[in-house]
Amino acid sequence: MQLRINGTIHEVDVEDDMPLLWVLRDELGLTGTKYGCGIAQCGACTVHLDGVAVRSCQTWAVDATGADIRTIEGLGTPAALHAVQAAWLTEQVAQCGYCQSGQIMQAASLLAENPSPTDQDIDDALSGNLCRCGTYPRIRAAVKRAATMMQEG
Ligand code: FES
Ligand code: FES
Repeated sequence: MQLRINGTIHEVDVEDDMPLLWVLRDELGLTGTKYGCGIAQCGACTVHLDGVAVRSCQTWAVDATGADIRTIEGLGTPAALHAVQAAWLTEQVAQCGYCQSGQIMQAASLLAENPSPTDQDIDDALSGNLCRCGTYPRIRAAVKRAATMMQEG
């Protein structure tokens, strides 16, 4: 099947019901997307399908055909970070880092839909993204910083 990932078409020979997460990591080497629970409960595997955050561990490969799939590798570039990535660096959000690509993808999806989220909006949108290191206060600060950066252009 063909999958469009970060703007590039990939031909992959996988079963229809292979989780998209396995396709990304094991077939294509896009290991920025993490495996945490495998049952859509932690958010470590979050990617975008047509701009919407989804859990790639519970998204079948066949259901991602025809969609614009974006992973953390395609959100920004080192020379042109996405505002969320830049804000994350400024706020020094990451601790161990394991959950962070999922957090960033969830936050980017939130800001695309809601450019001025309240604290409650942020908490609601990211409540399914778990962080064992407890970086939640810095995540919230970074989302707010990113929102400001995006509004200022
Ligand atoms: S690995 Fe997908 S939600 Fe936990
Ligand atoms: S930074 Fe360690 S799990 Fe979130």
